[in-house]
Amino acid sequence: MPSVDIYSLNGLPAPYWFIQLFKVLGFILHSIPMHLWLAGLPIAIILLLIGGVNGQMFARRLLKQMPVIMALGINLGIVPLLFVQTAYYKVFYPSTILMAWHWLGILALVLPAYYLLYLTSALVDAGRKWLPALSGCGASLLLVAAGLIFASAWTLMASPESWTELWRAKSIAGAATGLGSNWADPVVYLRFVSICGLALLTVTFWLLFDSHFLFVEKRGGAGKARPDFSDFMENPRLPKSRKKELRRLRDAGKLSEEEELEALEYGYDEETEEGDAYQHWALRFASVLVWFGVCISLGSLWFYYYKVLDGPESVTGVHEASMTTAPAAPIDPTTGEPERIVPVWIPPITFAGGALFALTVILGNFGKIQGKFLVVLVGLCEAVTLTFFAITRQIIQNEQIKNYLDIRAIPVQMQLSPLLVFLLVFLFGAALIYWMIYAMVKTVKR
Ligand code: HEM
Repeated sequence: MPSVDIYSLNGLPAPYWFIQLFKVLGFILHSIPMHLWLAGLPIAIILLLIGGVNGQMFARRLLKQMPVIMALGINLGIVPLLFVQTAYYKVFYPSTILMAWHWLGILALVLPAYYLLYLTSALVDAGRKWLPALSGCGASLLLVAAGLIFASAWTLMASPESWTELWRAKSIAGAATGLGSNWADPVVYLRFVSICGLALLTVTFWLLFDSHFLFVEKRGGAGKARPDFSDFMENPRLPKSRKKELRRLRDAGKLSEEEELEALEYGYDEETEEGDAYQHWALRFASVLVWFGVCISLGSLWFYYYKVLDGPESVTGVHEASMTTAPAAPIDPTTGEPERIVPVWIPPITFAGGALFALTVILGNFGKIQGKFLVVLVGLCEAVTLTFFAITRQIIQNEQIKNYLDIRAIPVQMQLSPLLVFLLVFLFGAALIYWMIYAMVKTVKR
């Protein structure tokens, strides 16, 4: 396929580094909530049905948080999409037009999934078990299908050389029918599996964050979360007989301040033990979950980076990549060997991040690292893993389309006003996200 004449394009409205930075940042931000609904939702449903007291507690909390997580994920997905449409439109539109019905199908999948998540959250709130499990299951299936379409679209976008054949097969009188797809490409599933593995790591982090930060705030603020009432007569946990006795003392003016305070807080001290049990369970469960996450994500990424993309010739003499629509390493014309797409030093940082993640959780389970410090360390490992995964992914995307469209070489025609509007909207969005998380924490406290 002839490459795009970059001088015929409008030019990049912002410097190359700015576009890459916000595209990668946007993808990382999109990934966190997306991981929670991809892996967290099925895990929560299983725990809701067969989990113990603590497992059910986590399940109910996560399911109640889910509508806000979904809203966050969708909004944050817009950020990288904006930059895809700005700089990568010469590859984005042809590929999504070729698979238009699948692409449009995302709406038909995401909208009902969103409603089902609201329903699940409300049913959980009403103390139900089987019905939210059923509606959550429906939402989860729809979201997995949407995720596969996304994986398929980003894979097709990075393989312009497969478009002509797809267009020939799925066009009428030269017009694309939009019925194309690349489901036959195993890379789609490999990418999706690595996203699912990373999603398990994010759920592990969220489990620890929820149990050590959000839940602790709930009980740590025993004096803060409880006082929907300021009179001990309204304390539902204080026995009636004790209430009567205390009221008699108060009416007689003989009730001391300590007694009144004790009566006010009666029954809420137990939450400390409850909270500790929940945190211990969270650590134990996290140390199981993390192994699945590390093995699935790092295993599939290693296979993708080193066997599919940079793979040597297979025994049949055919380059591994020819099994896929996306040819992996382009052939170096001087040596005739496949060029290395992924810089050697980047994947090991992702792997190190994942391994450290697992190590930190295990040390936490053995009590070597504790409390919020443990969660902060796990959060840092998660950040390193996701950041380097996103950077590697971006490098691969740029390299795969380079022969057709060299983004880096497109001249910059700076457009300051849209740039400023973007930055302002981004700041506004960040404030909105802060408010949404605040609202979610408040809901969970209730
Ligand atoms: C509806 C609003 C959404 C928007 C605007 C959106 C946008 C995006 C964008 C732009 C990317 C690629 C970023 C890049 O190439 O750097 C991406 C990746 C991805 N998104 Fe979303 N997304 C949305 C919802 C979802 C949903 C509901 C799922 C379901 C699980 C999902 C799953 C994924 C996956 C799995 C990837 C990575 C695919 C791969 O690299 O193979 N997204 N999304």
